[in-house]
Amino acid sequence: MRRPAGAGARTPRHLRLLALRLTLFYGAVIFLLVAGTSALLYGSLVSRLNQEDDQFLGHEVRLLRTLLQPWPAGAAELRQEALSEWNHSQYARLDIRILDAAGTTVLAGAGMQRELPRRRFPLPAGMAATAIPGRDVKGPGHRHFRVVSALAPAGAARAAFTLQIALDRTREEQALAAYQGDMAIALGLFFVLALGAGYWIARQGVRPVEASFARLSRFSADLAHELRTPVNNLRGEIEVALAHPRAAADYRTTMESALEEATRLGKLVDGLLFLARAENAQIALTAEVTDVRAELERIGEFYRAAAEQREIRLETALAEGLRARLDRALFQRAIGNLLENALRHTPAGGSIRVAASRDRDRVRVQVSDSGPGLAPERLAHLFDLEARGESREAGGWRTGGLGLGLSIVRGIMRLHGGEVEVASPPGQGVTVTLRMAAEAASAAAG
Ligand SMILES: Nc1ncnc2c1ncn2[C@@H]1O[C@H](COP(=O)(O)OP(=O)(O)OP(=O)(O)O)[C@@H](O)[C@H]1O
Ligand SMILES: [Mg+2]
Repeated sequence: MRRPAGAGARTPRHLRLLALRLTLFYGAVIFLLVAGTSALLYGSLVSRLNQEDDQFLGHEVRLLRTLLQPWPAGAAELRQEALSEWNHSQYARLDIRILDAAGTTVLAGAGMQRELPRRRFPLPAGMAATAIPGRDVKGPGHRHFRVVSALAPAGAARAAFTLQIALDRTREEQALAAYQGDMAIALGLFFVLALGAGYWIARQGVRPVEASFARLSRFSADLAHELRTPVNNLRGEIEVALAHPRAAADYRTTMESALEEATRLGKLVDGLLFLARAENAQIALTAEVTDVRAELERIGEFYRAAAEQREIRLETALAEGLRARLDRALFQRAIGNLLENALRHTPAGGSIRVAASRDRDRVRVQVSDSGPGLAPERLAHLFDLEARGESREAGGWRTGGLGLGLSIVRGIMRLHGGEVEVASPPGQGVTVTLRMAAEAASAAAG
């Protein structure tokens, strides 16, 4: 009753949807982070440029205020001085206009009249103002300016001049626009990359879910398969018994057999349930620091009679002072399972050995026997659900074990943060090794 090998390899639809959602989610988050960072950096670049330009304009305002101080020395002189100042190559991008108190233009650069009528300027900043915020103004023909306006003293005269200064920023704006374009392309490419990365991350995330989903669906299929045989047996037996009137003794035999069957069935269900819950760590441990040697001795005593009855020697080699945090009932169940296996497979005259020792920071417990051992191919699949079913079929439903013992041992060890290892060197029986964290001897609580 094996499923075809390919079954479960295909990702179920809802997991594919999950991966898709995760991909979009990761992609969007990464993209938004990068786009947000880019926008912030861009904003800070622009504000830095503005700041620098404003500083530059502020400097010009101060310069002009100084120049205008000796007014009215004569407009011609001023014009001469101002023009020589602004014709300097450094100021090629600057243009000015000076208005007197009556609003008459005293002086204006050539570009001013053409591109920047006076109303495009903000109200002038006060005489004392030094940090004057600039304003962005668009001129005709896609030209960009940063402009300031400020009052300036007019020598002895009471009334002040109004300064209007414009800085041509067309080239900066063009560079910024090109930069924006590049950024949009880079972000577009990055979005594709982010989706790719998101897909990769989602795949990584979904893989374990996929695996546990496959395990779960295999588990439920196995469960159905495993329960079907005993349930059919039970029904068959009862149907046969009821087919004809029978003597009371016959009914009794049938009932006994059915009870046996039902008991085994109950154990199987309990075992499977335990495994499912252990797998999801849904079993609460009542763990306490336990003396491993004393615990193993107690368990050994319990099985000694059964061993003697089968003429099997039960030896122990237990180191002193070994302590581990154990749920004693579960630990007993684990060791009990191992001893039952050993007893079942060791012929009369053989021996079983229980050993406990310290292995660095771990406690190592070993149960070994002198039985026939296990073939390597069976060793590899001991904990497989399918192999478990096979071992039960091989043993026969009525006589064999349930095939859950070792899986339960492993479940118990995992709940304890420990592990199980089964070895079978040729001709030396089976050795099962359990390892779990050792507790400091001083922390012992008996
Ligand atoms: N000490 C051993 N020597 C030889 N074979 C073993 C030994 N222990 C386990 N096995 C093999 O491994 C199989 C799985 O063991 P496991 O304890 O999981 O199941 P089981 O003993 O068949 O059933 P259950 O323990 O549920 O009653 C067994 O059927 C048996 O064939
Ligand atoms: Mg067993």
